[in-house]
Amino acid sequence: MTAGARGRVVRGSVLTFRADPAAVGPRRALRFYRQGAVVAGEEGRIVWRGPHARLPDVFKDFPIDDYGEALILPGLIDAHIHFPQHRMMAAPGRDLLDWLERFTFPEEKRYASASHARAAAPLFLDRLIQHGTTAALVFSSVHRVAVEALFTEAHHRRQAIISGKTMMDRNAPASLRDDPSIACKESEALIERWHGRDRLRYAITVRFAITSSEAQLQNAGALAARYPDCLVHSHLSESAEEIDRIRRQFPWAKHYTDVYDRFGLVGPRSVFAHGIHLGESECRLLARKKAVIVHCPTSNTFLGSGLFDIGHIAHPQRPVRLGIATDIGGGTSYSMLQTMGEAYKVAMLRGRNLSAFDLFHLATRGNAKSLGLGDEIGSLESGYWADMVVLDPCATPVLKARHALSRSLEDRLFALSILGDDRAVRATYIAGRRVWDAKGSSPESSSAADVGADVGRQNRKA
Ligand code: GUN
Ligand code: ZN
Repeated sequence: MTAGARGRVVRGSVLTFRADPAAVGPRRALRFYRQGAVVAGEEGRIVWRGPHARLPDVFKDFPIDDYGEALILPGLIDAHIHFPQHRMMAAPGRDLLDWLERFTFPEEKRYASASHARAAAPLFLDRLIQHGTTAALVFSSVHRVAVEALFTEAHHRRQAIISGKTMMDRNAPASLRDDPSIACKESEALIERWHGRDRLRYAITVRFAITSSEAQLQNAGALAARYPDCLVHSHLSESAEEIDRIRRQFPWAKHYTDVYDRFGLVGPRSVFAHGIHLGESECRLLARKKAVIVHCPTSNTFLGSGLFDIGHIAHPQRPVRLGIATDIGGGTSYSMLQTMGEAYKVAMLRGRNLSAFDLFHLATRGNAKSLGLGDEIGSLESGYWADMVVLDPCATPVLKARHALSRSLEDRLFALSILGDDRAVRATYIAGRRVWDAKGSSPESSSAADVGADVGRQNRKA
């Protein structure tokens, strides 16, 4: 191999997971090279990683980005975030349903406009890369044009985005409602156009059972059966008021999860955000069907929805698969580091303990597996996409002071998860290309890199 225009050696302290530390112990789960390197090939995939001292000769004339002692990890993955809510964080609602009606629905109406959605998409994706997030499962709005805008921009950047048109035909303002047949036709057209196109994937997206008629849920289930490699993405068991409404709307259902299950929406490709109030039989059903529950800690506390009990959901006798996410705009930070920190605190309030290894695993390899992308991203292995985040454990005076006391890798990671945020993100790479550089130096000449650099310049002015 020759040093092509985009081949690159990224040097620093390299950390990746090959297995779940909770299952096999950190020693077997981790690969860590204090003075390591990752080599991205011309195609944007990893061609080698290991100790820098053993870098094969063939890569020695590749350009090098050297980050010293900073940590190079797989890019962070956000397993549930809302594109049309990207600027409406910190909207105070009495509870989830009040918040939806007062702030969320009015903001989402704007995404009927293709030009609004097209202007928002690069801002949203910039925000992700600035926070070290390289891949995400994204709720869009009910409008087809919004999904088109997001996929078009993500495709341009080669970013791994999974999204879909939100299906909702009742209990929402008229301009946010579709109908069962339109929702189905539009979803199908979007699947045909975008699913599997380079790094993009489609998620059949039901907002939540409250905003869909039984006819629409039926159609969504039929779509999931017709396109079994698309994800199914929805919300489940988030707030007490929501669960009350579900009981009234679906009196025949055994419980909330049963509503989705009756319509064929619970399976190994199903990803449900929240799951705070799930009962034992719901957990058993979800575990048996291998569906995923995504923990959204900053959103759950902000909206007062409840304290997620990770020990209950992931109980070893019937573990439900897990993800972790920001849930912007219910969530209060784009940072997966802050999200990990809040997950830690919520677990403590539930009498559970999460290690830094558990948290970083969940936000990288764990989320990749939960989104069905475990063979492509989430680990730094040959053949995987070279999506990476570089974290500086001394990024702020507070982190630096804490770092002086850190005695182990776990300690460094723990401090980053509790004290870190976007300021700790030194650089972000997507498909081997640096798309965000906190110091704003030498952005590459692609439009994605240019966008990152522009954000960098704005940053420095602020
Ligand atoms: N349930 C239905 N829609 C939403 C949403 O937009 N955000 C959250 N957090 N929960 C929901
Ligand atoms: Zn959500």
